Amino acid sequence: MARSKTKERYASPELHALPGGPLERPPLDARRTSAMSTLAGHRVEELVARFGSPLCVVDEERVRAAYRRMINAFRAGWKDTVIGCSVKTNYLSAVVATLRSEGAWGEVVSGFEYRLCRDLGIPGDQILFNGPYKTDADLELAFEEGAHVHLDNDDELERVAELSKTFRAPRGVGLRCSMNLNYPPWDKFGFNLESGHALEAARAITAEPKLRLRGLHMHIGTYLPDPDVYGRAIEALITFALRLERELGVTIEYLDLGGGYATRNTLHHTLLPGEALAVTAEDYAAAITPPLARAAKQFKQRPRLFLEPGRILIDEAVSMITTVRAVKRGSGQQKAALIDCGVHILPTSFWYDHEIRPVEDRGGAVESYRMVGPLCMQIDCVRQAIVLPSLRAGDLLVIQDVGAYNFSQSMQFIYMRPSYVLIHARGVDVIREREEDDYVRAPERLPKHLVNAETKRSMLVRRK
Ligand SMILES: Cc1ncc(COP(=O)(O)O)c(C=O)c1O
Repeated sequence: MARSKTKERYASPELHALPGGPLERPPLDARRTSAMSTLAGHRVEELVARFGSPLCVVDEERVRAAYRRMINAFRAGWKDTVIGCSVKTNYLSAVVATLRSEGAWGEVVSGFEYRLCRDLGIPGDQILFNGPYKTDADLELAFEEGAHVHLDNDDELERVAELSKTFRAPRGVGLRCSMNLNYPPWDKFGFNLESGHALEAARAITAEPKLRLRGLHMHIGTYLPDPDVYGRAIEALITFALRLERELGVTIEYLDLGGGYATRNTLHHTLLPGEALAVTAEDYAAAITPPLARAAKQFKQRPRLFLEPGRILIDEAVSMITTVRAVKRGSGQQKAALIDCGVHILPTSFWYDHEIRPVEDRGGAVESYRMVGPLCMQIDCVRQAIVLPSLRAGDLLVIQDVGAYNFSQSMQFIYMRPSYVLIHARGVDVIREREEDDYVRAPERLPKHLVNAETKRSMLVRRK
């Protein structure tokens, strides 16, 4: 066959989304979501009348219940288990204080979080200090107060070795380890086990006269609904710890398996709702504690097991109440419900399809809505699509399971942050006041050359 003389230009293939998308969850998303008019016995309408909307509500009893479930599940298999609650997951003082009153230690990744724990009465020696960067001042204080400091990298190890020259007596340190367990590998942190880097670091620590290697740490990721990964992680830590005891003569007093235990929240683009995966504290304990029990006799002393759960303790205990402020027609069939809770106070909307429930169901048809926030930004979308009973301006909604990372990663962007309240058997307490403009503006200063007749009226000038 004769070949065509004119060369056809190559056109790259185009991808077009199928209507609906292959990974939507129609059967479950089309169900009629049941209404939720109370939170722990408190009427949602009354809460809003008292504290305004949006309103973030922490249910104290649920925080306590989550802690108890986790600690009991693990202590049933490994008695010497201690939970250091991940402070960055939710650093509202009332949340940390609630967990503390149940017996939790603190797990921190900055001087700010360390001071927060100390301020709430948690002694330094009940603080686990992680994170890739700790300032010299933070390290000094943490060592002075006997915190469990986990070294993350060679430069930090060098700084700590230098600092240790000022110690009167040797101090313990932990070594953060990493390994290739899952995708994406959680390899920003710590010393790699497979490459031999962790062994090198352990040798370097034991060569320091004022440092003692006391523990090994590994946090393998966040929201990991597969308990088997934890099983493999603890096996690797045990093998490494036993090797260090044999070869370096150290005593490994504790193994710390970090956090990452999943909740029932649903990640975007997953076929099943998080609820269907239903991984429980007991499932994680069943994967983690048996390897410890099997190896117990090989250790010089039975190591303590530290856990650093964040989301599993707090996610499901917190709800955000929001009000529909407008119902808008979109460019297609789907309507948009504009709510007063945006991604600035609900950043987890970027990766979760949060469950949203109406406070009142007036009956009638259900409709699919895009839930958009009040920010003047196209990205301010709390949920791309959700089926709800017909909405109108003024309706109240409850966004569930928002306790992890929403407060600590929130910002006062365009709108100030709302009130945060704690509900408990005795009533309701404000645990964080609604922010006023001054929250943003008070630290500002207006340079002299910008002061003129107009700006003289500004509070910035008046304040001087
Ligand atoms: C070292 C460490 N421990 C614990 C946690 C808590 O993780 P999660 O909230 O997923 O349980 C984190 C969070 O990424 C972490 O970095």
